[in-house]
Amino acid sequence: MTEIDRREYDGVGVFVTGAASGIGAAVARRFASAGAKVAVVDRDADGATRLAEEVGGVAIVANVADASAVDAAVATAIETLGGLAVVVNNAGVGDLRPLHLLDDKTFRRLVDVNFSAVFYAMRAVVPHLLERGGGTIVNVASQSGIGPTRNEAVYSAAKAATIALTKSGALEYGPSIRVNCVAPGFVATPLTGLFQAEPETFEPIRSSTPLQRMGTADEIAEIVAFLASERSSFITGQTIVADGGNSLPQAGTDPTLAGLWSRFSGD
Ligand SMILES: NC(=O)c1ccc[n+]([C@@H]2O[C@H](COP(=O)([O-])OP(=O)(O)OC[C@H]3O[C@@H](n4cnc5c(N)ncnc54)[C@H](O)[C@@H]3O)[C@@H](O)[C@H]2O)c1
Repeated sequence: MTEIDRREYDGVGVFVTGAASGIGAAVARRFASAGAKVAVVDRDADGATRLAEEVGGVAIVANVADASAVDAAVATAIETLGGLAVVVNNAGVGDLRPLHLLDDKTFRRLVDVNFSAVFYAMRAVVPHLLERGGGTIVNVASQSGIGPTRNEAVYSAAKAATIALTKSGALEYGPSIRVNCVAPGFVATPLTGLFQAEPETFEPIRSSTPLQRMGTADEIAEIVAFLASERSSFITGQTIVADGGNSLPQAGTDPTLAGLWSRFSGD
C-alpha cells in the first residue's frame, strides 16, 4: 500500500455515503488518516456513530434514497464541517434474482440507492462546490455497470446510469468540479459475505480472475482518494475498473483459447 500523506486533506470536509460498512468505511478511514474531517453518512445509525467516533468525524443518519434526506445531510455536513470539498457517493445495495421476479419495491430500492441517491447528492452539493471555487465528486459504481451479469439486471442498469451521470457531471461542471467513478469487481465486504462464508462458490470466479483473488475495501479506498485528490488533476468523467482483471476474460472465448494452446503446443 502506498504511504499516506497525513496532511493531504488537512481540515478538508469530505462527505461519504454508505460509510458505516465495507468500502465506505475504508474510504472514511482513508480520508481521515490524511487529515480530513469526514461526514459519515449512512442509514445505519449505530454503524455511522461508531465509525464517526473512530475517525473523529461526524455521523449523519440518512436514507440516501430520499431526496430531502440527502438535501438535509449535505446541508448539515456543510454547516458542521465548515464546508465540503469532496463527495463520495458510495452507498449501494444488491439483489440476486431474475428480473421478472423483481417486485416494485425491490426495483425502486435498487434504482434509488444505486442511482437516484447519486443524482440527489450531486444536485445538492454542486452549488456549494461551485461557490467555494471547486471540488471533486467520486461515485462508486460496479463492474456490473459495464458488463452486466445474470440476476443483477436492475443493479447493473442503475450502476450503468451512475457511470453515465459521472460523465455528464464532468461535462457540465468542469473545470471547477471533477467527477469520476470507481467500478469495483469482487471486494471482501458484508455485501459479498456469501463468497467468504462459502469459498467454493467463489472458486470459479477466483480461478478466472488474472489477480486470483477478491479485492480489499482499502484497495478501493485508495483509488477513491486518488481520484479526489490533486494527484488526478487531469482526470474527469472517467470510470476506473478495479476488479483484479476479472472483466477481461471474454465469456467462453478465453478458456477455450487457453485450452487450444495446450493442444497445439503438445503440453
Ligand atoms: N463489495 C463488492 O464486491 C462490490 C462490488 C462492486 C460494487 N460495489 C459497490 O460498492 C459500494 C459499497 O459496497 P460495500 O461492499 O461496501 O457494501 P456494504 O453492504 O458493506 O456497505 C454498504 C453501506 O451502505 C449503506 N446503505 C445502504 N443503503 C443505504 C441507504 N438507502 N441510505 C444510506 N445508507 C445506505 C449500508 O447501511 C452500508 O453501511 C456499493 O455501491 C456497492 O454497490 C461493491
